[in-house]
Amino acid sequence: MSSIAIVVGSLRAESFNRQLAEALTRLPEAQGHEFAFADIGSLPLYDQDDDADQAASVKALKTLISGSDGVIFVTPEYNRSIPGVLKNAIDHASRPYGQSAWAGRPAGVIGVSVGAIGTALAQQHLRAVLAYLDMPTLGQPEAFIAWKEGLLNADGTVGEGSAGFLGGWMEAFLGLVELHKAP
Ligand code: FNR
Repeated sequence: MSSIAIVVGSLRAESFNRQLAEALTRLPEAQGHEFAFADIGSLPLYDQDDDADQAASVKALKTLISGSDGVIFVTPEYNRSIPGVLKNAIDHASRPYGQSAWAGRPAGVIGVSVGAIGTALAQQHLRAVLAYLDMPTLGQPEAFIAWKEGLLNADGTVGEGSAGFLGGWMEAFLGLVELHKAP
């Protein structure tokens, strides 16, 4: 059993990425594992002056990430990069210097977009940030998903056409997490 933290890069109430993230946790391949969603919407704007006295919402984020075996980032693409709210959350949990909650934690990167390239460019930017944070990140399969009819069923589960691919992605991610657990 693994404990997985999920960070969704959209605060939108009807966020497609949030819906995808919830559907991922309901895949057969995800059963038997624990998933907890990070609350990044209540974080203040990052200010280095606050490093010595982090807000309760920042401490809660760091506790969630530190207590997880791995992290899934499910993010939209904004202007060919990651949304500011996601970068804000990443920066918060990376500080104070030397006390990053991200370090060493395996990561999966996935996202859905209304555009044809399915968050590919945002994912490349995110991978560069995660590499610096020393997060071993799932390389394959890549998951560039376009939002379309039938991706999710009415009950919020993954649609038939994508269940095999997304199930394989989840299996590969959980395999990476297992690989990085202390013996
Ligand atoms: C977008 N969108 C977008 N889509 C894309 O494929 N590439 C992009 O660069 C952008 N840029 C962008 C900037 C901003 C500020 C917004 C608000 C939107 C469209 C985006 O894919 C769409 O709004 C998704 O629905 C956002 O994801 P959530 O909020 O539904 O999870």
